[in-house]
Amino acid sequence: MKKNLFVIIMAIVSLISCSNKTEESPKAEPVDSTAIVLQNIASRKSVRHFTQEPVTQEQLQTLARAAMAAPTACNKQPWAVIAINDRTMLDSLCAGLPYAKMLAEAQAAMIVCGDLSKALEGDGAQFWIQDCSAATENLLLAAEAMRLGAVWTAVYPDPERMAIVNKVLNLPENIIPLNVIPIGHPTGEDQPKDKWIDENYHLNKW
Ligand SMILES: Cc1cc2nc3c(=O)[nH]c(=O)nc-3n(C[C@H](O)[C@H](O)[C@H](O)COP(=O)(O)O)c2cc1C
Repeated sequence: MKKNLFVIIMAIVSLISCSNKTEESPKAEPVDSTAIVLQNIASRKSVRHFTQEPVTQEQLQTLARAAMAAPTACNKQPWAVIAINDRTMLDSLCAGLPYAKMLAEAQAAMIVCGDLSKALEGDGAQFWIQDCSAATENLLLAAEAMRLGAVWTAVYPDPERMAIVNKVLNLPENIIPLNVIPIGHPTGEDQPKDKWIDENYHLNKW
């Protein structure tokens, strides 16, 4: 009886050690995440030409999550991100916004808004613009990483563009749309630009 128990225990121990070995091999290659991240930053471009392939709700939420990971002054997170995949609303925005005509082809759009009820007061009252700009760049980089295309089209501080977005979305007074970002699957026509210029870089002196 004791011998049988010993055999069973040894069999279990050997099974566990075998399964651990299977998990460990083959050894995973180290991933050079630095190269991947820098490549993504260099590949980002304004995309203004889209295919008809839809953008999923999951993708829109992933983009919003990336936006909301941005740094903000005093961690106020004074923003609201609006996702739009309704064709009629996309067309209404397209009709009213002269510099966002690519909305006609885009399958979705995101609007990064400042929420003044969450913004700093006094000297820091304007930081929401920088906070929402950081969020927007995060969103654009996430879109690039997800093989989506996107372009920042300006709304704030243009009163006419703000009025159009307010009308289409019926925004409360404290919500200020910074931009409208058309989103879709890129056709491949838009390419990144190399923007490095030596004279724009300074080390220890002007
Ligand atoms: C604040 C801001 C406002 C912009 N407004 C518009 C716009 O209204 N319409 C548009 O097509 N692109 C707009 N752009 C995109 C720029 O034209 C684009 O970023 C620039 O030409 C550099 O190209 P790239 O994004 O491909 O590197 C805007 C970008 C920023 C940062």
